Amino acid sequence: MESIRITGGERLNGRIAISGAKNAALPLMIASLLTAEELVLDNVPRLADVALLKRILGNHGVDVTVSGKRSGQADFSGETVRLAAPVIVDTTAPYDLVSRMRASFWVIGPLLARMGAARVSLPGGCAIGTRPVDFFLDGLKALGADIDLDSGYVVAEAPKGLRGGTIHLPRVSVGATHVLMMAASLAHGDTVINNAAAEPEVVDLARCLTAMGARIEGAGTPQIRIKGVTSLGAARHPVLPDRIETGTYAMAVAMTGGDVLLEGARADTLQEPIAVLRQTGVEMIESNEGIRVMRNGHGIAAADITTEPFPGFPTDLQAQFMALMTRAKGVSRIRETIFENRFMHVQELARLGARITLDGDVAHVTGTERLKGAPVMATDLRASVSLVIAGLAAEGTTTVNRIYHLDRGFERIEDKLGRCGAQIERLASSS
Ligand code: UD1
Repeated sequence: MESIRITGGERLNGRIAISGAKNAALPLMIASLLTAEELVLDNVPRLADVALLKRILGNHGVDVTVSGKRSGQADFSGETVRLAAPVIVDTTAPYDLVSRMRASFWVIGPLLARMGAARVSLPGGCAIGTRPVDFFLDGLKALGADIDLDSGYVVAEAPKGLRGGTIHLPRVSVGATHVLMMAASLAHGDTVINNAAAEPEVVDLARCLTAMGARIEGAGTPQIRIKGVTSLGAARHPVLPDRIETGTYAMAVAMTGGDVLLEGARADTLQEPIAVLRQTGVEMIESNEGIRVMRNGHGIAAADITTEPFPGFPTDLQAQFMALMTRAKGVSRIRETIFENRFMHVQELARLGARITLDGDVAHVTGTERLKGAPVMATDLRASVSLVIAGLAAEGTTTVNRIYHLDRGFERIEDKLGRCGAQIERLASSS
């Protein structure tokens, strides 16, 4: 199994090209199930989750082709992926695929809307808590679907098609908002989704669906209104830049010190993390080119955060921020409100010398001058990258094992950081 070895202590200087957002690319690819015509997505990141979703969609009958790299195109330019599903050959999403990536459950919305039937495995347990699917099922029922559970599968039917309805999500759910927005786009009549997620990835999906012919208003606000249409057509859409990758590299620079331009980053998708990083003493300059991140000389000041749905501080940056706070002056308080059990990085950070105490959904981090490198184990995607950030500042060598989690969500992280001066390399097998 591969691992990443980091020798800490180098400042980061240079440029990092921000990739297309994984969390936008996945629902956008799934939207291809809604139409018999071709959906072309530009700026798709090269990630393990994207590769897996190509296979899953292929199972349903989506032809997926990837345009070759054009000469002169930078290594980090995303792929152009063409997806066409003239015929859906299978409306079942089997356990062995859905259990490997939770977001593949989301095919239930488009399959049901287009074919009137879907049989999708329940995603099963997940390392960051129970992550149920009740909002999806209640929402689809409100759109007229019959839902049954059979041997670990959700069997959803709407033989005469879905109809519009009013849905109130009990709490903000990104996945449920994506799925219900896709399903309602092909329902008969009007749908209102209240307490909808306002994440930039929801807005990106709504833009793409609109380009395909959907009639959606209010994406990016807590109320989304959809007028169903009878069919959707071809479109071409660029995946928005990854705000989580952006925030992660910003925290890496905050951690090591230095001066890095995050090329293509979109500050409007990241206002709260930018404000928090400024509180910690990092300079962040927003421009048309991206976001420039600088920390020179000064130490890191402690700051408190609470994770919240957009536009609040994203849970997907919580672990990285905690890594940064391990070196801050003073105590910071980090509260996780989105997922239970999303503090698994705490134990691993402690192996590097971090001083963190847990009290329910709150972590208290007491900054320390010195972290010391050690072998650590990645437990999930965001936790793994927090260990990389800590390793960049730790004395000596840190080896992050089980990095397949990293490859699910971060495109060539060792290249991107290495080009800015980090001593980081991928090893073929772990120690
Ligand atoms: C998405 C992101 C993930 C991010 C999360 C929150 C993708 C591929 N993943 O995950 O990176 O951390 O948003 O920003 O985009 N819930 C229920 N019942 C449901 C659905 C959700 O109780 O039916 C709960 C969840 O357990 C969680 C909360 O709602 O506590 C928010 O989850 P949700 O926004 O749905 O997360 P995902 O869409 O899975």
